[in-house]
Amino acid sequence: MMSRPILGRVLRSGSPLYSYVYSDYPMPVGSYVYAEFSVLDRASGSKVGRRVIGVVSNSSYSPIIERPSIVDLRSESSQEYSVPSISIMSIYIVADITSDKPETPRYPLPPGTAIYPAPPEYLRILYELPEKGFIRIGSLSEYSGIEIRLRVNELSRHFLVTGATGSGKSNTVAIIADRLTRIGAPVMIFDVHGEYVGLQPEDGDSSRVRVYEASISPYKIPPKILASMIIRDPAATKQRRLLARALRILNREIGDTCSKGYGISLAVGEIYSKRSAAKRISEDLDEEPAQTPSSMYKKILVDIVRSISGSSKAYDSKVVESVIDKVDDFFETSPIDLEAPRVVDMIETGRIIVIDVSRLSDDQKAWVLKLYVDELLDHLKMTVASGRRSLPVVFIVEEAPLFLPADSSTPAKESLQRFAREGRKFGGVLGIVSQRPRSLDPNVASQLQNFIFLKLVQEEDRRAVMNIADSLDDSLAQILPSLPKGRAIVMGEWIGRFPVLVDIDQHTGKRRGVSPDLYGLWSSGSRASEEIVEEKFSIEGGWVL
Ligand SMILES: Nc1ncnc2c1ncn2[C@@H]1O[C@H](COP(=O)(O)OP(=O)(O)OP(=O)(O)O)[C@@H](O)[C@H]1O
Ligand SMILES: [Mg+2]
Repeated sequence: MMSRPILGRVLRSGSPLYSYVYSDYPMPVGSYVYAEFSVLDRASGSKVGRRVIGVVSNSSYSPIIERPSIVDLRSESSQEYSVPSISIMSIYIVADITSDKPETPRYPLPPGTAIYPAPPEYLRILYELPEKGFIRIGSLSEYSGIEIRLRVNELSRHFLVTGATGSGKSNTVAIIADRLTRIGAPVMIFDVHGEYVGLQPEDGDSSRVRVYEASISPYKIPPKILASMIIRDPAATKQRRLLARALRILNREIGDTCSKGYGISLAVGEIYSKRSAAKRISEDLDEEPAQTPSSMYKKILVDIVRSISGSSKAYDSKVVESVIDKVDDFFETSPIDLEAPRVVDMIETGRIIVIDVSRLSDDQKAWVLKLYVDELLDHLKMTVASGRRSLPVVFIVEEAPLFLPADSSTPAKESLQRFAREGRKFGGVLGIVSQRPRSLDPNVASQLQNFIFLKLVQEEDRRAVMNIADSLDDSLAQILPSLPKGRAIVMGEWIGRFPVLVDIDQHTGKRRGVSPDLYGLWSSGSRASEEIVEEKFSIEGGWVL
């Protein structure tokens, strides 16, 4: 028997996985507890002892008497009015640790069983894993001395980090990315809000972070895809066909010029000057002459669109003008860079590769994501097919609901589904970050088998995560609304057989996404915002940006 204080006693057990415990005082939600009890062994007819570890997942506190009398409540004899109370707590039974090898609990705790604080040495049996092959993500809830580690080889089952806004998702991503890169992994973060741009690794070695501002290279995107990016109306098939044809012609011409030893931008310049000299590029009076490679590219493209329509009766002038308008719009509003690197050129051992897509529109983000994910999977597959050893890559998608809504389609959805389905065989690890698990596409969700569940308040989200992780029991999921910042239920093969409540380490490197100190910024009279406004005005007072 334990010599520690009894925290409470079992009132009733609903199953081997959960019990209600009563006590004079409530224990904090998230506390680990221990119990020992006997069960009858039918074979021998004798009683055998069992030992289990559980965690407090919910608690209530109520008066024992139904209704205190009004006379009592008004009594002024004492300042402190005490009502005899009882606390009822739900305990999720995590594991049976009777033998050296922890097992899934099979016996419900008998009513009256004493509940104790969990001794650290038992928790270590359950959770502590060797260092080799693992990365640390934090410590056991309420036991800062017990390290919690993730088994790196199980990452190929992909992972999901989910929690309400501000619950600590991006901090968790920073910890995982930082520690995986320290063992040599390339980790790419598709950074929707540009919050990892200033990320500093924990060890201060800033060469481990590489930031790419995502831009679109019209030359490097398959023409059919670029045409769909530019002409989004699904019904406008004729326009898209015309544009794709023009893109194909132009890109072939660039390719031919490049093969003579030119770089892409120079090749475009060369083609542009040839066409201008031959007066093939129409000079628009209200337009400035093209100066950058991308504006030259656009002008040549428009020229080709016009010449295709001139030589074919298939496209009337309305179609042609509409294509040109959309091309103009696209080149005006999108970050275009002919030399933008491909995603496979970004892969580097031991680097956090931040892909900052914050300047793109939501639709462009989805297209760029599609391109990257397709390209990455193709690259991994081809490496394996050619018999070379592939370098596994972790690709983390922030704000996944933007790309993976359950009930509508986005340009990236199918590609992410394919990556989730096929990636693991080829060394592609997908990390999905979402604050709304209820709206996550079930096809991708069903491929995710490692989980970090941070605070979730909405009932629908709790139901959703129980659907996604079928081994997440209702009685443990009750804890989700009361999780403090940075504390999570971690589940899946990367942690072992039993769910664990973890205080995720706080990432010490800077990250832009952390909540701004509004009070501090305002009260210190910061003038930063005025300076930015001034920069945007020209001397005449007009907007120049
Ligand atoms: N494990 C932790 N320990 C201590 N503080 C934390 C922890 N995790 C997050 N925080 C703090 O909580 C705040 C929000 O964290 P974070 O940006 O990771 O949340 P988020 O879930 O990504 O939010 P959002 O949905 O808005 O992107 C930050 O100020 C961060 O420093
Ligand atoms: Mg975040």
